[in-house]
Amino acid sequence: MKFKKNILCIGAGYVGGPSMAMIAYKCPDYRVTVVDVNSDRIDAWNSAELPVYEPGLDKIVKKTRGKNLFFTKDIENQIKENDIIFVSVNTPTKTYGVGAGMAADLQFVEKTARQILKHSRSSKIVIEKSTLPVKTALAMERILASAKGKFNFEVLSNPEFMAEGTAMTDLEKPDRVLIGSRETDRGLKARSELIDIYARWVPSGKIITSNIWSSELSKLVANAFLAQRVSSINSISALCEKTDADISEVARAVGMDSRVGSKFLKASIGFGGSCFKKDILNLVYLCSYYGLQEVGAYWESVIKINEYQQERFMANILKNMFSTLAGKKICILGFAFKADTGDTRESPAIYITRKLIAEHAEVIISDPKALKNAAIDLAGIKENVKYIEDPYRAIAGCHAIAILTDWDLYRKLDFQKIYNSMIKPAFLFDGRNIVDHRKCFAIGFNVYPIGKPALSHFKT
Ligand code: NAD
Ligand code: UGA
Repeated sequence: MKFKKNILCIGAGYVGGPSMAMIAYKCPDYRVTVVDVNSDRIDAWNSAELPVYEPGLDKIVKKTRGKNLFFTKDIENQIKENDIIFVSVNTPTKTYGVGAGMAADLQFVEKTARQILKHSRSSKIVIEKSTLPVKTALAMERILASAKGKFNFEVLSNPEFMAEGTAMTDLEKPDRVLIGSRETDRGLKARSELIDIYARWVPSGKIITSNIWSSELSKLVANAFLAQRVSSINSISALCEKTDADISEVARAVGMDSRVGSKFLKASIGFGGSCFKKDILNLVYLCSYYGLQEVGAYWESVIKINEYQQERFMANILKNMFSTLAGKKICILGFAFKADTGDTRESPAIYITRKLIAEHAEVIISDPKALKNAAIDLAGIKENVKYIEDPYRAIAGCHAIAILTDWDLYRKLDFQKIYNSMIKPAFLFDGRNIVDHRKCFAIGFNVYPIGKPALSHFKT
């Protein structure tokens, strides 16, 4: 079959896989190919167990794979055969040299640009889908321009705004699709070619365009704003715990102001995930690079509050369990950084587990999708950690439960049955405020929510 467009994506990760699956699903007359240097990942995309857990992803991959969606290791030939190339490689925080711990590590993006340059035999549109510091497109353009007039490479910025756990609905019904380009004839032509792809299923009013630098910067700023809301509400949760105010009531009252809005005001043990921290660090680094120390300090405080929230949670466990955890069994309910994903990157559960182990507690970790990744994250810890998927079995015989992920299934647990199976006094630390605290207290638990008065059976 002859396809109308041939699209390639370099990087078969959490973004590359789902976003290309959606394009293939919505555009059956386009051929979409995804490549990766990680051959295990490609094998997994071609198997029955996909490397990424996302509700709805399996169904779409089943419908498209082998028809107009292909996962392959042959990067060289795919670059030759495709005219539109998305770059969706990882952009982690740099761990070495100048900017270590702050700046984005652009080595994978640069390598990709060089691969494209080396293997291209025709002009291409190259689209940044990875999250990048503002002005990265300039470096891409300069590398690609060394083709010296043989072919033209037009670089676009098309950042991805999907969130994990809701990726498929976010991709199908995005709040907006952002496309940044050079405002030259060639740039505008490339821009309209990309608009054509999204216009297959995204209403035109939701496809917005801008200059390329605004597009790159908007992605970092969007994540910074979202993370800032979580840190804002978490900072107030600490004040609530001192004053008997209730963070859910405060968030509801504040969020009902239509100028503020109700989303992203759920107090928690802190945000995790591969992007919020790294993107804010990247923003802070950019500010300091441009001499804007005050602006950088403002955004850095979002990360500081996030760390403070996790430290507070841990300190609360220690203090309320009589200042010693040695030999006590603590069950962690949820290791993923949020519900509906198996991803554990930057999950607060990693920090909490390490701290519990440092206090010589025995930790039993339960999660419906993230146990494999949890074992990788904690590979250095051999003793005092167990992984048990069934929450009832995981909790039996424990002194305390710490709920760290907002999985729906934890809301529905039979807490009477759980209480009966635990060592008394039984403690419940709800890092997500997802269970019925009064009911659990009535059953007999000592309950410690986030940003709400503790419900304790001990007399002070
Ligand atoms: P990921 O680590 O899951 O996937 C990146 C993939 O790129 C890896 O499989 C890696 O092997 C591959 N890769 C690296 N260099 C390569 C090369 N030269 N050739 C071929 N493949 C190569 O990362 P991700 O979570 O998919 O994120 C990708 C980008 O998208 C990042 O910039 C991230 O900030 C951004 N982003 C992520 C999300 C998310 O929800 N995870 C959402 C929006 C944006
Ligand atoms: C986030 C953004 O929401 C996406 O728009 C963006 O594309 C993506 O980062 C990215 O660039 O990687 P994601 O990290 O997948 O998506 O998940 P979120 O839903 O944003 O949650 C991030 C963290 O904040 C989670 O740990 C979540 O539990 C926490 N959170 C979120 C709260 O603690 N409270 C809230 O009210 C909302």
